[in-house]
Amino acid sequence: MKIISAPDYESMSRKAANLISAQVILYPRSVLGLATGSTPLGIYKQLADWYRKGDLDFSKVHTVNLDEYCGLPAGSEQSYRYYMESNFFHHINIPAENYNLPNGNAEDIEAECIRYDKLISSLGGIDLQLLGIGHTGHIGFNEPDQSFDKTTHRIRLSRRTIEANARFFETPEKVPEYAVTMGIKAIMQAKKLLLAASGAEKAEILYRALFGPVTPELPASILQFHPNVTVVATEDALSVIRRQEPKLL
Ligand code: PGA
Repeated sequence: MKIISAPDYESMSRKAANLISAQVILYPRSVLGLATGSTPLGIYKQLADWYRKGDLDFSKVHTVNLDEYCGLPAGSEQSYRYYMESNFFHHINIPAENYNLPNGNAEDIEAECIRYDKLISSLGGIDLQLLGIGHTGHIGFNEPDQSFDKTTHRIRLSRRTIEANARFFETPEKVPEYAVTMGIKAIMQAKKLLLAASGAEKAEILYRALFGPVTPELPASILQFHPNVTVVATEDALSVIRRQEPKLL
């Protein structure tokens, strides 16, 4: 595992964007796994900026997002499809048919989950998966659980996650209780993982995920078993790691 530290959010975003950019330049047909939330916003902004300057071409890239809420009205500004289109896809030259998110409103959610896993396989798997980390240690919406071996599935969001995501909604009651998330299996099968973290409130969970016991109770801890993980994080997000593992940073 490589840990790259950045002095602030802007620099973290630029470093992570550089790694994604290298992937797309080296392999224009890459399959990128993408994430939502506050953390990746700066990364998408930077990539869109480089696209505008003519440095990046996304015309052959395919993407699969980690997750989507269930039960939001179509076109809802809180949906992850809307987030991805307004923050990234509509600012680059990726063809609409090349980007994918699970459909949280599918009538048959089980069939939708199977479709999503098949889609990832049919694309040849994920070359580079971008991840954030939630306060519960979730990756995607894989909340603390009893096992690591889930494929794409519907999940009930934890109270902590609902509270954390309430900032995007008018009231916490409006945060959907359920979501569809790519499972840990597909994430672990990605060739490379890029975990981005920012802010002091992530310092403890980041330390526990990367250096604590590997347990499905802290889903991100499984990353310790992945052969190619790069963590790009701000200094404050790395503060506990720096204290506990000073030789590493
Ligand atoms: P955040 O979310 O980037 O908004 O902190 C991370 C996550 O929940 O994975």
